[in-house]
Amino acid sequence: MASTTGRLTGKTAIVTGGGSGIGAATSELFAKEGARVVVADLHGANASITVERILEEGGTAEPFAADVSDETQVEELVAFAVRTYGGLDVLQNYASNRGVVEHDLFVAEADTEVWARQLGVDLMGCVHTAKHAIPHMLATGGGSITNATSLAAWLSLESRPAYATSKAAVIGLTKTLATEYGKKGVRTNAIAPGHIVSPATEKMYSDEQTQVMLDHVSAPRLGRPDDVALAALFLASPESSFINGQVIVVDGGMSAYAPMVPTFRRLAADS
Ligand SMILES: NC(=O)c1ccc[n+]([C@@H]2O[C@H](COP(=O)([O-])OP(=O)(O)OC[C@H]3O[C@@H](n4cnc5c(N)ncnc54)[C@H](O)[C@@H]3O)[C@@H](O)[C@H]2O)c1
Repeated sequence: MASTTGRLTGKTAIVTGGGSGIGAATSELFAKEGARVVVADLHGANASITVERILEEGGTAEPFAADVSDETQVEELVAFAVRTYGGLDVLQNYASNRGVVEHDLFVAEADTEVWARQLGVDLMGCVHTAKHAIPHMLATGGGSITNATSLAAWLSLESRPAYATSKAAVIGLTKTLATEYGKKGVRTNAIAPGHIVSPATEKMYSDEQTQVMLDHVSAPRLGRPDDVALAALFLASPESSFINGQVIVVDGGMSAYAPMVPTFRRLAADS
C-alpha cells in the first residue's frame, strides 16, 4: 500500500460492500487517508472485521449492516453516517450480489428471477445510495460518488448476462448523476476493474482460469483490491475535482489490445 498523505482528512465516507475484497481495501485506505468511514455490508460481521482492522491502525470507522437493494435500509445507513459523523462527503458503491453467479447463464436458459436479484443489488443499490446521499452532499456544497462497474459491461464473458447488464446500467447511471448534480459540486465516476483477485473471484475461477487471466493481463501480475482502492482514492480526493462522469479502467491493460494478439503471439512462438 502507498504511503498516506491525509488526502481525505475531515471527510466522511460510506463504503458499501466494505466487508470484502475491493470495498474492504477501499475502506482501509480511506481511513488511513483520514476519512471517517461507515463500512456497510449485507454481512454485518464482515463489516465489523474491516472496522476492527481500521481501528487497530488508529483510524475512525463504524460498521453498518444493510442490504443495499432495500431502500429503507439504505436510508437508515445514510442517516446513521450523518448522525454519527455530522455529514457525508464520499460514497463508494462496491456491493455486488455474487450469490447468483452460477444461475446467471445463457439468457434463453436462465430463470429471469436472477435478473431482479442481480440488478436489485448491483444497480439499484447504487440508485438507493445516491438518492439518499446526494441531498446531504448538496447541503455541504458537494461530494464525490464512485460506482463499481466492470469490463463485463462492454466485453461479454459469454454468460453472466444479468451481471453485465447491471454493470452497463451503472455506467448510464454514473453519467446521468454526473450531469444532474455536477454543477452543484457532486461528482460521480465509475471504476471498471478487470480481473482483481478477491475472495469472490478466488471462489469463482479455477487455478487454470486464473492462469488464463494472467496471460491476458499486460502486466507482470494479477490485480489486487489495493489497485482499485488507489484509483478510488484519486476519484474521491480533490485531486480529481475536474473529473466527472468518467469510467476509470483498472485492468492491467487487459482491455487494451486487439482480440487477435494472443493468437499472433502463439503463431510467432510456434514459427
Ligand atoms: N474482483 C473483480 O475482479 C471485479 C471485476 C470487475 C468488477 N468488480 C466489481 O467490484 C465490486 C467489488 O468486487 P469484489 O470482488 O471486491 O466483491 P466481493 O464479492 O468480494 O465483495 C462484495 C461485497 O458486497 C456485499 N454484498 C452483497 N450483497 C449485498 C447487499 N445486498 N447489500 C450490501 N452488501 C452486499 C458482500 O457481502 C461482499 O462483502 C463489485 O461491484 C464487483 O462487481 C470486481
